[in-house]
Amino acid sequence: MIVLGIESSCDETALALVKDGALVNAVLASQADIHALFGGVVPELASREHYRFIGPLFDELMQRTGCEASLVDVVAVSRGPGLLGSLLVGTAFAKGLCLGAGARLIGVNHLMAHLLASGLNNELIFPALGLLVSGGHTNLYYMTDPVTSVQLGRTIDDAVGEAFDKSGKILGLSYPSGGLLDALARKGHADRRCFPRPYVDNDNLDFSFSGLKTAVALYASEHFFLHSCPSPLSRVEDASQDLCDCCASFNLAVVDTLLIKVRRALERYPNVKILIAAGGVAANSLLRSELNQLMIARGGTTLLPSPELCTDNAAMIAYAGWQYAIRGFSHELSLETIPRGHVIPDDMRQCFGPHEM
Ligand code: KG4
Ligand code: ZN
Repeated sequence: MIVLGIESSCDETALALVKDGALVNAVLASQADIHALFGGVVPELASREHYRFIGPLFDELMQRTGCEASLVDVVAVSRGPGLLGSLLVGTAFAKGLCLGAGARLIGVNHLMAHLLASGLNNELIFPALGLLVSGGHTNLYYMTDPVTSVQLGRTIDDAVGEAFDKSGKILGLSYPSGGLLDALARKGHADRRCFPRPYVDNDNLDFSFSGLKTAVALYASEHFFLHSCPSPLSRVEDASQDLCDCCASFNLAVVDTLLIKVRRALERYPNVKILIAAGGVAANSLLRSELNQLMIARGGTTLLPSPELCTDNAAMIAYAGWQYAIRGFSHELSLETIPRGHVIPDDMRQCFGPHEM
């Protein structure tokens, strides 16, 4: 079964082909440089760029793989949550392809696709605890199979990736700051006393990261080490040791906070031996090693996508689409896109059961 995946929910236009659950090839155009000029994603610009890139990227993918539209069985498209105008570009393109080439349409929940991404390089095992840490979300899930999960916790304000990006901006780092802050943290010495572990003195599985960015602003105003150059810092070599130390302390505070809630969730579900981490922040080196150690100590396993599959990509959309497709699910051409903050409806129809494959 050949599945074409399309991702356009934020600032990456990406397409990928998955055949029988394995990645064949992928193409991606990032708009990060354009949005970096504004210090964050500008929705109107994002949708225009998706519109500009999506056709040529499709041609490039077909050329690279020797595939053609008529051979695609399923078009899986990221249907939300995300920026509405951006999602519309991807879904309109997907619907056009389905009409023209006779493929089945599957609207994929972008968040579930992140969680399933590690299936591209590992065998997925269930039940699993899912930790989704991205620029827009910080969620915990109890997952019973690839297409069924219950949300256990979420952020009540900023997402963890947002905390990285906003704190990075305060510290004078270029946008998006997560990857750079991670690299600077590896050169620094963390001090546990610098930053709090926010919202852990409770008994829930929710997160709150907005206070951490305020703590970074306060710390930065009290310590005079900020990068004085007018343009944001984008190279590790240009950072002072004080800045690296501050990044290491911030990074540790974030990772400790996530670990506290993950441990709490695992205590509530003692049958769970698998932890699936996903989303852009799952590329974080300290978080990856801490989650691995945590699960090894419990006799379990952490499944992590490779770092390039942590951030937005179309391979995860195609793979998630394949998981739905082999279970007989699909959408009508009336599929709606779902903006950020809205619940993704359970509106797939099942045209055949998995046993009929
Ligand atoms: O999953 P993603 O590509 O987009 C969303 O769906 O939100 O995540 C992007 C987020 C950004 O906030 C970025 O700063 C963060 O992931 N990020 C990282 C790292 N790489 C990307 N955060 C911490 N450490 C990293 N290595
Ligand atoms: Zn994402």
